[in-house]
Amino acid sequence: MHGSDYLYPKLAITKQVPPPLLEIMLLKILGTAAGGGLPQWNCSCPNCQAVRQNRADISWLNQSSIAIQAPEGEWFLVNASPDVRQQLELLRGTKPYSIRDNPIAGVILTDAEIDHTTGLIILRESGQPLRVYGTAIIKKALTEGFPLLKTLEAYCGVEWSSLEVGSTVSLTPKLAVEIFALPAKAPKYMRSQAITGDWVIGLTFSDRTTSKVVTYAPGLAQLSDRLLKRFESSDCILVDGTFWENDDLLIQGISTRTARDMGHLPLAGEDGSLQSLSQLKRPRKILVHINNTNPIHIASSKERKMVEAAGVEVGCDGLTIEL
Ligand code: MLT
Ligand code: MN
Ligand code: ZN
Repeated sequence: MHGSDYLYPKLAITKQVPPPLLEIMLLKILGTAAGGGLPQWNCSCPNCQAVRQNRADISWLNQSSIAIQAPEGEWFLVNASPDVRQQLELLRGTKPYSIRDNPIAGVILTDAEIDHTTGLIILRESGQPLRVYGTAIIKKALTEGFPLLKTLEAYCGVEWSSLEVGSTVSLTPKLAVEIFALPAKAPKYMRSQAITGDWVIGLTFSDRTTSKVVTYAPGLAQLSDRLLKRFESSDCILVDGTFWENDDLLIQGISTRTARDMGHLPLAGEDGSLQSLSQLKRPRKILVHINNTNPIHIASSKERKMVEAAGVEVGCDGLTIEL
């Protein structure tokens, strides 16, 4: 057996020739599914079963995460999912490596949810402290409620960079990120403390050389006029597509909680997000953080057709967006 076949039995990606650096901001979807992934380990909903049966109209999807590459070449991971090990393989091959090399310059967190943060623990082998960006309340959650940061102190350690709502941070000289607040709930594991703060943020990345703008909002509880303006002034938006209808989980007998109870605006209906997204003219519109139960995962479904008719795309793992 060839050595690389042994080490990477299923990752054809390792055999690809590295693409040349384009010197523009690049975005890659690393995981399109919401927490649990598709299929989810304990789920036998029609979608999860269809993936297990290798049906042609639905694919295996990793959990919510994207990566953004600065024009200078550094990759930033945005949200660290439990699938981060496989996901980071999608970024390798863009620069020469030393024997132990970190493919990312930092991790940016949009919230402290388990599906967006657990991957930090998988990165503990790092030779240097991990650079992690997040709000003060996200740091508090990851220190007290789900103490990943404390745990990592005994491994690689973390260098925390504080993100303030309303501010713009230069990730590199050519890549900036603006932080905006989104109305949302605290993670379940922090709710007993009843503290308020910037539990969920959205991010607007801009390439200072091309002036191209991308907005990422995987957790969206409401759509305000202000937010829609932000979307309209972006070249591309990646938006919460968790649930089709408010009662998706109730109908399937999975939960008594609605989409809105969980801090996710559903897509369908007059007050759903799809209607508003369809009105936007400038941006390329892509749905991410899509729950495994959502019928839009099935390429032939009427719900997928409605999304496409609204000029909106359903994201997929590995999708690279050049602006
Ligand atoms: C969410 O997106 O609402 C959370 O990640 C749900 C969860 O705890 O899995
Ligand atoms: Mn989630
Ligand atoms: Zn399922």
